[in-house]
Amino acid sequence: MTFKVTLQPSGRGFEVARDEAVLPAAIRQGIGLPYGCRDGACGSCKSRLLEGRVIHGAHQLKALSAQEEADGLILTCCATPQTDLVIEARTVPGAGEFAVQKMPCRVGTIARPAPDVVILTLQLPANVVLKYHAGQYVEFILRDGARRSYSMANAPHRAAEGLELHLRHMPGGKFTDHVFGAMKEKEILRLEGPFGSFYLREDSDAPIVLLASGTGFAPIKAIVEHMQHKGIARDTVLYWGCRSKADLYLHDWALEAAAAMPNLRYIPVLSEPKPEDRWDGRTGFVHQAVMADLPDLSGHQVYACGAPVMVDAAQRDFTARCGLPAEQFYADSFVSEADKHAAA
Ligand SMILES: Cc1cc2nc3c(=O)[nH]c(=O)nc-3n(C[C@H](O)[C@H](O)[C@H](O)COP(=O)(O)OP(=O)(O)OC[C@H]3O[C@@H](n4cnc5c(N)ncnc54)[C@H](O)[C@@H]3O)c2cc1C
Ligand code: FES
Repeated sequence: MTFKVTLQPSGRGFEVARDEAVLPAAIRQGIGLPYGCRDGACGSCKSRLLEGRVIHGAHQLKALSAQEEADGLILTCCATPQTDLVIEARTVPGAGEFAVQKMPCRVGTIARPAPDVVILTLQLPANVVLKYHAGQYVEFILRDGARRSYSMANAPHRAAEGLELHLRHMPGGKFTDHVFGAMKEKEILRLEGPFGSFYLREDSDAPIVLLASGTGFAPIKAIVEHMQHKGIARDTVLYWGCRSKADLYLHDWALEAAAAMPNLRYIPVLSEPKPEDRWDGRTGFVHQAVMADLPDLSGHQVYACGAPVMVDAAQRDFTARCGLPAEQFYADSFVSEADKHAAA
């Protein structure tokens, strides 16, 4: 038995199998819906149910509050139809263009550019071409079936060199404890992707704010590489927020990108610079640096990625205080098990 879902205003329709949530069915059929974590934690897939009934699986109240649910909003990643549905949802151009694939991969290189950051390169099987949008992510499928998401840090035109991922160590974490401990070159991992709707909307001329915290820099780097490759000359400013200078693990790369691209400015912001950093640059919370420089964001697009606390603050303050239209804020929030349990 299947249910039919119709999207408004596009009018596109697709089938959802019994006991399947709306989003996985859409991804399976190449239908472009907005989403991030696929796990009820980030709120990126929030949409309005116009007709029909759903049952929600477990999700964070931060992603969908009881009031929002009562007001007719749903999280497509964990809403299972009980009837045919009509849903109002922004369609995402280019989503579903590239098939989601499962594949083995081999760890190529393991670099440690900062004490708690590893840059991994992964080699894919020779017969596999992984196509993706700069900004999207892959999921590792661990031995116990758990999944962990990491954003590609290199643009798709460079994917044949191997996938580049940036991982921050979360002490006690199931996957990153292994990466920072026992992982060796040539280790075989299993991954699936590409996922996500966090990538540059190329049908716009609006000036761009790229906003990263910590390893949220990974997909932002891929987007910058993609813009350079495609000659996209939109006025762009990249803000990268970290605690101290050592955490800006690709500072020189960002300086070089800004020197090579006349349309790109790079503004690093440290929240806790150390005396030995001799930092005379910007300090404080990175999203507040954006607001100080750009108090009127009404004509901008913002692409924000990294710690949930930063992404949430940027979304709230940019829309409420700087006039950013809500639909011009694109984000991937790096929600982890800790965030999910803290919110629960
Ligand atoms: C779309 C997306 C893209 C992402 N991209 C990146 C990326 O490019 N780079 C990156 O570094 N990260 C990224 N992340 C985050 C990443 O997927 C992992 O969440 C992160 O690396 C931690 O994984 P882990 O297995 O090491 O830790 P987990 O096992 O998930 O644990 C994380 C932390 O929570 C604690 N914890 C575990 N279980 C509980 C519990 N029950 N209660 C309380 N605390 C608990 C652990 O001790 C640990 O400190 C992304 C996340 C998403 C959703
Ligand atoms: S809450 Fe649905 S994709 Fe994150």
